[in-house]
Amino acid sequence: MKPYAKLTKEERNEEYAALRAQYDAFCAKGLKLNMARGKPGDEQLALVSGIFDLMIRPENYISDGTDVRNYGELRGMPAAHRLFAEILDCKPEQIFVGGNSSLQLMYDLVSKGYTHGLKNSPRPWCREEKLRWLCPAPGYDRHFKITESFGFELITIPMTEDGPDMDTVEKYVKDPSVKGIWCVPKYSNPDGIIYSDETIRRFAALRPAAPDFALVWDNAYAVHEFEGDYVPFPDILSLCEAEGNADMVYEFASTSKITMPGGGVAVLAASEANLDYLCSLIGVQIISYDKINQQRHALFLKDKAHTLELMKKHAAVIGKRFKVVLDTLDREIAPLEIATWNRPTGGYFVSLFAMPGTAKRTHQLLKDAGVTLTGAGATYPYGKDPADSNLRIAPSYPPVDELQQAMNAMCLCLRMAALEQLGL
Ligand SMILES: Cc1ncc(COP(=O)(O)O)c(C=O)c1O
Repeated sequence: MKPYAKLTKEERNEEYAALRAQYDAFCAKGLKLNMARGKPGDEQLALVSGIFDLMIRPENYISDGTDVRNYGELRGMPAAHRLFAEILDCKPEQIFVGGNSSLQLMYDLVSKGYTHGLKNSPRPWCREEKLRWLCPAPGYDRHFKITESFGFELITIPMTEDGPDMDTVEKYVKDPSVKGIWCVPKYSNPDGIIYSDETIRRFAALRPAAPDFALVWDNAYAVHEFEGDYVPFPDILSLCEAEGNADMVYEFASTSKITMPGGGVAVLAASEANLDYLCSLIGVQIISYDKINQQRHALFLKDKAHTLELMKKHAAVIGKRFKVVLDTLDREIAPLEIATWNRPTGGYFVSLFAMPGTAKRTHQLLKDAGVTLTGAGATYPYGKDPADSNLRIAPSYPPVDELQQAMNAMCLCLRMAALEQLGL
């Protein structure tokens, strides 16, 4: 196999015809395969099915003297505070445990900033003339959609292997209309990057012009190693506090990929002053979240050490799937020099950079062959990847044999799109 850039036009045409025949044969199978969303597979869900047995015992209804079946405890159950404070390495007083989705808590934060303002806002964001938000990209499409939906201008911040490019971040926060930034600091979605200590230090020491700038620290993959041991991670809350920025940071996490997506528990960690302020607003919209589920999770996960044991079991299941993706790309694509990709050791994604100008075409070819992938461009603000290059692979959900077939198809499509781009 020669690098495609070195092929003559005749060789490219010959190669394309051979690939086309394989592609047509694949399409004829009429398969429906999905590598689009980071969902745990059935084997992973089976690891946590014991959680349903816990709340049939009446002695479990009472936790720290509170009956979880009744109203109360807007900030969540103390047992859940202790569990998540240990996992995130912060103080239980800094934890708010909400409903079943951290994304919803993030939306709610932006929404409250918009309608009422955050704790240090001079006025609600809806009364500002201009609103801008920093979006490290490639990033998580659902983050970008939230701020887009509130009318923020989305500003792309390039990602480096140490996390967001901090020179660019530091430059933009001098603008008072920049109200916040989306960050996924550990096993970033989709690149799987762990922010370096230096990046984290510079985030904590930011001096934004906006007094209500929100550092949204979405630690969705805090304990999600699938290769190697747990990687300890600095507590952003205490780092910000040490820099005089205690109220700047809002850290999020959830058990969506520890227990069950949609059936888990979501967490916000923030300064006590921020939590007091937010609770004064949240208390208007809800009396209390689902404490039965919080108690179920506190009993099931017990503590950080026990949670990490469960994560090892998840790792054994999804590690195999990441190996299929990386081995296939190494074998089929690396020698052709038509794409590069990250090699994460945790999280839920492999981020692939196809030959510029070919991501959309690859996506379309795959779609026509019955393979669903997250839309090309989705990892960039407004769904527009300026290089038309990045594709996000989510290998966790399909069974291994289906994943292998989907990856074979992906390699075929990457190759066809690259040849078309080089000229036929
Ligand atoms: C970075 C990131 N944050 C949040 C979520 C969604 O979390 P939740 O299920 O808690 O809403 C995801 C899901 O893929 C994610 O990748």
